Amino acid sequence: VSPQTTKKGFIDSVALLIRAGRYSEAVKELTRALELAPGDSDLLWHRSVALAQLGDLDGALADLYPLLRAEPKNLEVRNQIRYVHRKVVPEWHFDMMHDTERNQAFEGALKSRVTPDSIVLEIGTGSGLLAMMAARAGARHVFTCERTGPVRNAAIEIIRRNGLADKITVLPLWSTEVQIPRDLPEKADILLGELFGPALLEEQALYFFDDARRRLLKPNGTVIPLRAAVYGAMIESAAIQQRSSVGIVSGFDLSLFNGLRDDPGMQLLLEQYPHRILSKPFLLREISFQEVSEPIREGEVRVAAIESGVCHGIVQWFELFTDETHLVNTAPMKARTHWDQYVQIFQRPVTVQKGKEISFVLRQFSDRFSLTPRMEG
Ligand SMILES: C[S@@+](CC[C@H](N)C(=O)[O-])C[C@H]1O[C@@H](n2cnc3c(N)ncnc32)[C@H](O)[C@@H]1O
Repeated sequence: VSPQTTKKGFIDSVALLIRAGRYSEAVKELTRALELAPGDSDLLWHRSVALAQLGDLDGALADLYPLLRAEPKNLEVRNQIRYVHRKVVPEWHFDMMHDTERNQAFEGALKSRVTPDSIVLEIGTGSGLLAMMAARAGARHVFTCERTGPVRNAAIEIIRRNGLADKITVLPLWSTEVQIPRDLPEKADILLGELFGPALLEEQALYFFDDARRRLLKPNGTVIPLRAAVYGAMIESAAIQQRSSVGIVSGFDLSLFNGLRDDPGMQLLLEQYPHRILSKPFLLREISFQEVSEPIREGEVRVAAIESGVCHGIVQWFELFTDETHLVNTAPMKARTHWDQYVQIFQRPVTVQKGKEISFVLRQFSDRFSLTPRMEG
């Protein structure tokens, strides 16, 4: 884009770049143009769209908020802000804040472990809820880091309104960027974090806990949560299988589409689907957050069927022990938590016979466990 072009020509050309998916180029052009015309609403608008597409949500909002201030009734701007906010705070965040079982397990552990001498370091502030619980439990000081700008800003204001600004410091960092003494005056006594998804590990929790424990926690410090155990059971459920596979529809064979959904897994509440449990619960893995956890790259699990049937996949759940006495359990038919359960569907269902064993390959990835019936390789 040449600087000599008229404004309309310039905007048309960056709009073309955006439509073509060339977002980085568009951002570069628009940033240059904004240096010549700071605050120009057309330029800010287009840059916000490109930044949102690039996943730079902080950047997108930084361009959108001034536009909203200038024109509070502009529906297009409001809609774009809504779109970005939804990405920043997905709907589950609200269910999570209301999850009493989760909240009580964390607050119970904090109350029993925090002392007036404790320095607490939290990974992932969110709304500030757990950091405020730690402060209420009497910690000397709480340091908490949040990678997402708009979430962090909201947390800072929430903490201020709850009268805890002098007890909690919110760091604008990924936990992996936190440094002693620049951000944290000394190693923490307690490392706190709730970075878990329905399959436990979705948010790369092990990686972040390992890093923070190694660099930022005193050698005899405490990690909350303490440990977790992930369980599974074989299930038969054509209804759940249908949510992640396709066959003949309206007389057309669409089955090739299944190749695009490799090792499908999904969050759902098992009781909402017709299903049969075909095995007793079995342990997939115990994890201690207190020590380095070597991932099992691959192992074998043998599971006996307690019923004959067609096994479409594995339902997974976990027990998360925040300390020795407090835990959250996401098992089917237990108290409901915002995590529901996690169901992994096989590429091909397996016929099982009551009393006979099925052998599975257990793989641990950074974000989940996966079981594959042996014959599937
Ligand atoms: C599941 S929420 C929990 C929020 C809050 N601690 C609570 O329990 O209510 C996790 C938050 O941590 C942030 N987060 C995840 N990993 C992080 C990391 N390694 N460093 C900083 N923030 C992180 C996410 O952006 C998200 O806001």
